[in-house]
Amino acid sequence: HERRPIIAIDGPAGAGKSTLARRLAQRLGFLYIDTGAMYRAVTWRAMQERIDPLDGERLSALTRAVRIRLAPGYQSAFPTRVWVDGEEVTRAVRDEAVSLQVSAVSSHPGVRSELVAQQRRIGEAGGVILDGRDIGTHVFPRAELKIYLTASVEERALRRAEDLKAKGLPIPDIAVLKEQIRSRDNQDMSRAYAPLRKADDAIEVNTDTFTVQDTLDRLLALYRDKVGGGV
Ligand code: CDP
Ligand code: CDP
Repeated sequence: HERRPIIAIDGPAGAGKSTLARRLAQRLGFLYIDTGAMYRAVTWRAMQERIDPLDGERLSALTRAVRIRLAPGYQSAFPTRVWVDGEEVTRAVRDEAVSLQVSAVSSHPGVRSELVAQQRRIGEAGGVILDGRDIGTHVFPRAELKIYLTASVEERALRRAEDLKAKGLPIPDIAVLKEQIRSRDNQDMSRAYAPLRKADDAIEVNTDTFTVQDTLDRLLALYRDKVGGGV
């Protein structure tokens, strides 16, 4: 039976996954599923309810109970609109406070298995692009195209500073931003269950010296080579 292609984009924070996934989806007419937004939504709700980020049992129950809805966002800073139990939390889920806790919340197998089941249900028909940490290794290991997007810590910190500036937010010292990026990389790569790593058959694309447009062109070329189709 025919299934439309699945594209998996994984990589560390600030590599450009959501920016590129969103643009590529628009270009190919695919559905974009921002899996990070789902982990952020659960984290936001858990913080509302003052649940300890180490309490895997309560967090897993919460993940099963909460209703998350996603829709295309408006710009790079807000790539996805997010609702939790009917309340729009598009901006709130990008808050620094959520960013600081999301890796701890995401480390619990019960949280992950529920969100992964939802991601598979939405994506299994194909014609989708998912970005996250475990898409090519765990969620859709048979995806037609797997990209592992990277950039140096320095470059990612500079991009983060640009994003904060665009949002009119205060910009911490670059050294502080680098430390936050390193810390999230470490947490996401060292967790026991479905950690961030490059799938053996993923194509690594380093974006340090690329513009967004360069990267998009490169990903479209890879799609043409690996999957075909008139794009
Ligand atoms: O956009 P940014 O790179 O800051 O992060 P994100 O994609 O919104 O993901 C936020 C966090 O959710 C990550 O740092 C991971 O801890 C977690 N996450 C995950 O564990 N697995 C995924 N498939 C996606 C996100
Ligand atoms: O989703 P992820 O955390 O991997 O990154 P993002 O939220 O897409 O943020 C990446 C930032 O770097 C955005 O502000 C992009 O405009 C910028 N950027 C990029 O994504 N790719 C490049 N080749 C150059 C800059």
